[in-house]
Amino acid sequence: MRKKIIAGNWKMNKNLNEGADLVNELLEIITSSSMDVEVILGVPFTHLYMLASISDKFSVSAQNCSSQVSGAFTGEISANMIQSTGAKYVILGHSERRAYHQENNANLVKKVDLCLSHNLKVIYCCGELLSERNSGNHFETVKSQIEEALFHLNPEQISNIVIAYEPVWAIGTGVTASSDQAQEMHAYIRSIFKDKYGLNIGKYLSILYGGSCNPSNAHEIFSKEDVDGGLIGGASLNANDFSQIINAF
Ligand code: PGA
Repeated sequence: MRKKIIAGNWKMNKNLNEGADLVNELLEIITSSSMDVEVILGVPFTHLYMLASISDKFSVSAQNCSSQVSGAFTGEISANMIQSTGAKYVILGHSERRAYHQENNANLVKKVDLCLSHNLKVIYCCGELLSERNSGNHFETVKSQIEEALFHLNPEQISNIVIAYEPVWAIGTGVTASSDQAQEMHAYIRSIFKDKYGLNIGKYLSILYGGSCNPSNAHEIFSKEDVDGGLIGGASLNANDFSQIINAF
């Protein structure tokens, strides 16, 4: 069985007090029936340490890390620092970081390697722009994002990678990919991993959908064979919405 995962991506929202309130609310709602789903909260760096040890009902994830090991890089946060907070995951390659912070496949290779060498699992984001989908290049775009940043890894390392397919045109827009569009891309992504790493790796890789996922569309999207969960932005900021998404399988 593949692991089912619901990961929240808080982005740059919630100060420390607000974050603690949201998590407390969530902990009251998440029931034991939700527990065959791994819940991950992608929170700001400032929240990692406080939230990492609050409950075994969820793990925490950073939303980025430095491509450098340590040293004179003012304002950066290293993989080693993230690991020392108790965080288990790092979201890498999010389209907002690619768009606003010059994230590219070359520095993502370094970040992926640093996270894995610090026992941090990586939620690796990929996804096409609307113009790329409209011109029929969406498969090629996603393939190169995956190949260039991940395919230097060995099979054991790949088992610590989760893929999040997030079509850029669906992020924060209220426009979701249809469940068929999500399934088509997820099956394609799985096939790339099977071709490169063999059937078993492909079979056990968790592939999450992200982009305007909410309580009313989550069930339909998660019912698709190759969709193993979601990376949830806006709806993860509300405990009721997020818990409904956790229960949507
Ligand atoms: P959204 O964001 O759910 O608000 O569209 C998803 C993401 O950016 O991870």
